Amino acid sequence: MDTKLIAPSILAADFGNLQRDVELVNQSQADWFHIDIMDGVFVPNISFGMPVLKAIQQHADKFIDVHLMIVDPDRYITTFAELGANMLTVHYEACTHLHRSLQAIKAQGMQAGVAVNPHTNVELLRDTIQDIDMVCVMSVNPGFGGQSFIENTYDKVKQLKALISEKKADTKIEIDGGVTSKNAKELIMCGADVLVAGSFVFKSENPTETIADLKTLIN
Ligand code: DX5
Ligand code: ZN
Repeated sequence: MDTKLIAPSILAADFGNLQRDVELVNQSQADWFHIDIMDGVFVPNISFGMPVLKAIQQHADKFIDVHLMIVDPDRYITTFAELGANMLTVHYEACTHLHRSLQAIKAQGMQAGVAVNPHTNVELLRDTIQDIDMVCVMSVNPGFGGQSFIENTYDKVKQLKALISEKKADTKIEIDGGVTSKNAKELIMCGADVLVAGSFVFKSENPTETIADLKTLIN
């Protein structure tokens, strides 16, 4: 069985001590940095943009997983490649020509991810699954950290896992939103490979320990 991964979401970090929190992730058992970019149009919130990602990238020494919650993401694919993104995830709901977006991301040397909102049926990925390196299953409505996990996610992950196996695709499953030690193990049992955790990590008393505990729990 492949190692299951933890991706702390920097959205929940202390932006006044951003370098400190990036170093904390570097030194921890976390596998990836999860970076949430929100435009205030696709989602009802604005997070941060390119200059902040650049600052994070200068200190980060792990895989950078960028989650774009923006309309018309094709406009910025080259920019995010230049900023050091390793995985670039676009939303299914924000792409008119998803297949073209995926090819454009890969052409820039990045892995290509597709995020699906809670209302989006994973069957809609049937015709592109072989081109997708990772599906990010939103387990909250995107836009904010600290929301409660949507229970329907378990069924959705099982359905997606079955589709990936049926199509013999090599696609990872990431879960994003409301992940805690209460749902982590079950998500992995359903087929998840990568768990994003924001508030659960950074609002805990000892984020380094919380990351280590999550990592042990899922492996
Ligand atoms: C939500 C973001 C998530 C968020 C997760 O729109 O995509 O990555 O940071 O935060 P928690 O773990 O606090 O739900
Ligand atoms: Zn995210």
